[in-house]
Amino acid sequence: MFRARPDARPATIPVIVEGAEILVPEGASAAAAVLLAGLDAIRETPVTGSPRLPLCQMGVCFDCLATIDGVPNRQACMVPVAPGMRIARQHGARESGA
Ligand code: FES
Repeated sequence: MFRARPDARPATIPVIVEGAEILVPEGASAAAAVLLAGLDAIRETPVTGSPRLPLCQMGVCFDCLATIDGVPNRQACMVPVAPGMRIARQHGARESGA
């Protein structure tokens, strides 16, 4: 469904999305990495368990909440990728105390 634009910068930054390494362009967001990885969801809503993917890409919708480098509830669209970053699906609400 999503793919990089033909004029996108080359994908050179390795990140781990749900355990799989992919390369993304420098300066891309963790949300872009999720979409480039082709996941069907990055989080599930706490009440109904409805799957969600990044939508607005500008910090408004919160559909991109993910666990990034072990920290839950990160807005993936607001986090630029870094080499070796680990992005994981968040199931429901974050665990308390995290
Ligand atoms: S994609 Fe909407 S807040 Fe991140």
